[in-house]
Amino acid sequence: MSQLSVLDLPQLYTKPSAEAILETLALLTSAPPSWDYESDSAANDGSNLYTRKDNEPRAVRIDPEGVTRYLTSIVSNSLRWIQDEEVKEEIWNQASLRLSERSGRTARGDLTRQFTIPTSDGSFELSIHEPALTGDDLGLKTWAASYLLAKRLHLFHLTTQGQHNKPRVLELGSGTGLVGLAMAGLGADVVLTDLPSIYANLARNAEANASVLEQNGGTIRTGVLDWNYPRSCTLIPKSVIDTNSDGEVLSEKFPLILAADSLYSPDHPRMLVDSIVAWLSEDGSARVIVEFPYRDAYLPEIANFRQRMTVAGLQILDQGEEKGYDDWGDASKDDDGLVTCWWSCWGREVPEQNP
Ligand SMILES: C[S@@+](CC[C@H](N)C(=O)[O-])C[C@H]1O[C@@H](n2cnc3c(N)ncnc32)[C@H](O)[C@@H]1O
Repeated sequence: MSQLSVLDLPQLYTKPSAEAILETLALLTSAPPSWDYESDSAANDGSNLYTRKDNEPRAVRIDPEGVTRYLTSIVSNSLRWIQDEEVKEEIWNQASLRLSERSGRTARGDLTRQFTIPTSDGSFELSIHEPALTGDDLGLKTWAASYLLAKRLHLFHLTTQGQHNKPRVLELGSGTGLVGLAMAGLGADVVLTDLPSIYANLARNAEANASVLEQNGGTIRTGVLDWNYPRSCTLIPKSVIDTNSDGEVLSEKFPLILAADSLYSPDHPRMLVDSIVAWLSEDGSARVIVEFPYRDAYLPEIANFRQRMTVAGLQILDQGEEKGYDDWGDASKDDDGLVTCWWSCWGREVPEQNP
């Protein structure tokens, strides 16, 4: 792929045509519309080759150096040589949009996007709302690991159609709910959980997707489960406006626990493993499936998690790496937010048989 410098773009002193400016602004887009990236070979086979499915692959890459200045110069230019006022407005709008995209997710306001979740014989769509971001509420965004895990779930063959005893699943740190909702869309009974500050948006997404989940035979409950108090989970009544109902306290254990992108503080491995131990069924077929991005700053947390899971009597039954996109990075670095994630499926250690 060739790389252009900002000096190769149409310069305003040459009075470029409106068409040329708009084409350039389209090239400078850094917003991933739906994150739907797939493997090159066969869709959803878990291999590590990636192309953009929803966008044409970019034929050129533009060196980010100087791009912000270039965009600002368009926004502040009167574009006198362009006669059509509507076209001028469109150019200024597009340039402003490119500027806000380059400020990262925080500048983009709220958004709702569609995610396609593969099943063993087709796919279904989930609609996920992400509010405009405030402060440190990481759970209001949808992260690369969760989309990768949501797309991978069907490969574990955890549900079968028309199954009488649907798998009961608990998701820890659900955020916007993509993983848990995908699991319910595969026909499971899922409890999505997170902190109180994340809960309202999680419940909104559960309601927004209720009909597709029902059609697919799954159910959703949502609750507050803070890993600081790993043994306590309060289910929130279905209607978010029903503030008079007391929340039901969850008491059952789960044969399957899911979590994505949940290790980003030194305390998280301990808290997450304590929560897993508190809620995982005792039986030998119980499973924990997690997916975490390899972020340089948190590699020790992944090692710590693995060690604590082993001490808790769980072992890795299957694992792998794959790549996905976080669209919240610093767009000026122009790395497209590509992250490598590690997924793993854990089960209870099988005691060695004495001869
Ligand atoms: C990086 S986000 C990942 C969200 C979602 N799983 C995803 O991948 O899109 C981490 C999530 O863990 C949740 N979390 C952090 N600390 C928590 C705690 N003490 N108890 C429960 N959830 C917590 C956050 O609220 C947030 O939703």
